[in-house]
Amino acid sequence: MTASFDLPSLKRFEAEAQAHIRHPQAWDYLQDCAGLGRTHQANLQAFAEQRLVPRPLVNVGGGHTRCELFGQCFEHPILLAPIAYQMLFHAHGEQASAAAASAQGSTLVVSSLASQTLEQIAAASDTPPWFQIYWQGSRERTSRLIDRALAAGYHTFMITVDAPVKQAHFELPPEIYAVNLEVPAAPAAKHPHQSEVFDGWMRQAPTWEDMAWLRDTLNKPLLIKGILHRDDALHAQKLGFDGLVVSNHGGRVLDGCIDSLSALRDIRSALKDELPILFDSGIRSGQDIYHALASGADAVLLGRPYIYGLAANGALGVAQVIRLLRDELEMTMALMGKRTLDDIHELSKN
Ligand code: FNR
Repeated sequence: MTASFDLPSLKRFEAEAQAHIRHPQAWDYLQDCAGLGRTHQANLQAFAEQRLVPRPLVNVGGGHTRCELFGQCFEHPILLAPIAYQMLFHAHGEQASAAAASAQGSTLVVSSLASQTLEQIAAASDTPPWFQIYWQGSRERTSRLIDRALAAGYHTFMITVDAPVKQAHFELPPEIYAVNLEVPAAPAAKHPHQSEVFDGWMRQAPTWEDMAWLRDTLNKPLLIKGILHRDDALHAQKLGFDGLVVSNHGGRVLDGCIDSLSALRDIRSALKDELPILFDSGIRSGQDIYHALASGADAVLLGRPYIYGLAANGALGVAQVIRLLRDELEMTMALMGKRTLDDIHELSKN
């Protein structure tokens, strides 16, 4: 795909991505949803039901979308969510996404399951990227992974807690793997009468005690990703997390979850104005971003949409998707008579 088609749209990037992805199962992996896909549908439906009442005649001259998050300044509130194994989608993998993000005044949150080294990805970005932590089964192993990200200059950390069980129903090509992780520890033997779930998979999962330990250990901005219940948000706040990500993992983990947008509203009202909230799951347009900001988010993470750009057109495609959604956000703000993100945030306080 070239950069010159007349009307770029996310649908177009999606179609191009599907045509470009070489590994047959990679497309299915990207689009995958848990169970019957009800969570993913609920995410999209929640946005589809939103309506706007335009406010013309407001002087929006000097308007902008700038924001500050955890001491870093961004041109706009659209960051790139952690997505595993990006070399499945384009040969330049995470490096392309990181370079595009920094060129567009954004940042990539690099997955623990990245297919390129943390050092390579950081070198592709002019601004310090963020790092997403998956719990590595023990504090020692998790610490070693974090130390490596710290040494590579990562700025802000995000631990994902909603997917303790990896359900990759897909065999990766041999050259693509989680290059930053140690070889998985052998699962501890369980007794025949014990559950495969409670005493098997979940034995590697973190608990709130581990979250308290992590918060105390890591002297950097730290967010918790995958929060949908207000009590969990309050718990994370009490432990001293710097922010949270309201997310249902794009509907990939638990079928029949609450949509992320409804959870966001409830959690924002529980936290008042006290903690930054990032949001993902279901964002497909600048209008969706507007609704997330108006519902209490300080910024959003794009998920599958930027991978469509990556697969279609490498770093340029990622940059085009970010720019497309930013333009849509600015247009929506202008038509709604909002000059700044603070003007939008006011709506979530009503
Ligand atoms: C993800 N997501 C994810 N999240 C995370 O914390 N670590 C990871 O490694 C991954 N990997 C991953 C792979 C793929 C292929 C997808 C589609 C998603 C979840 C991601 O960060 C984000 O929460 C969702 O993608 C948001 O939903 P939408 O916007 O894709 O609907």
